[in-house]
Amino acid sequence: MDFQLGSTTLRVVKGDITEHETDAIVNAANATLMGGGGVDGAIHRRGGPAILRECKEIRRTEWPDGLPTGKAVITGGGTLKARYVIHTVGPIWRGGRAGEAELLANCYRNSLALARLKGLKSIAFPSISTGAYGYPIEEAHEVALRTAISFLEREDRLGEVRFVLFSTRDHEIYERGMTCIIKD
Ligand code: APR
Repeated sequence: MDFQLGSTTLRVVKGDITEHETDAIVNAANATLMGGGGVDGAIHRRGGPAILRECKEIRRTEWPDGLPTGKAVITGGGTLKARYVIHTVGPIWRGGRAGEAELLANCYRNSLALARLKGLKSIAFPSISTGAYGYPIEEAHEVALRTAISFLEREDRLGEVRFVLFSTRDHEIYERGMTCIIKD
């Protein structure tokens, strides 16, 4: 399902983000940046060792103690179709009163800002934090969509923003959410 927001196309699709050929795909990483399971594992598997090498360099030079929650860094895409991977660390769900919503919003905001800084034209997001990190997707999808939309209302140099959902249920939740929010 596509939505137009000024000159930016918002796309909600079902699939495997490692298949997408946007300028950048976003990785739901952990603070170590050393890979893991879920989308992190898929990206490192499909992207190959070059991504991990760059992540190690980022840890050595910029974030020796690990990437803080909500921050975003960028590496090449290795053997992925995407040219770049933007790695961001989502919040672990702790019940909703530990600032999770703001930290999750920072993941989307900082990833979009990094894409704009690099002059990228398209970016694809997974549903950050709604897997191993346990963030309920009913809440997370609203944070994701509203943050992206308010960023794009101020900044229209990004031509396309995709939300790539791995399951049918997640896809339906995001589509329904996007329809409601765009109508607001
Ligand atoms: N493409 C798109 N989405 C995917 C893919 C994929 N190939 N694989 C998994 N997902 C979806 C999951 O279904 C979930 O909806 O990504 C969402 C985020 O799930 P996780 O990958 O578990 O990420 P997160 O909840 O942010 O937890 C991050 O898990 O993999 C580890 O190293 C990672 O420690 C970090 C933690």
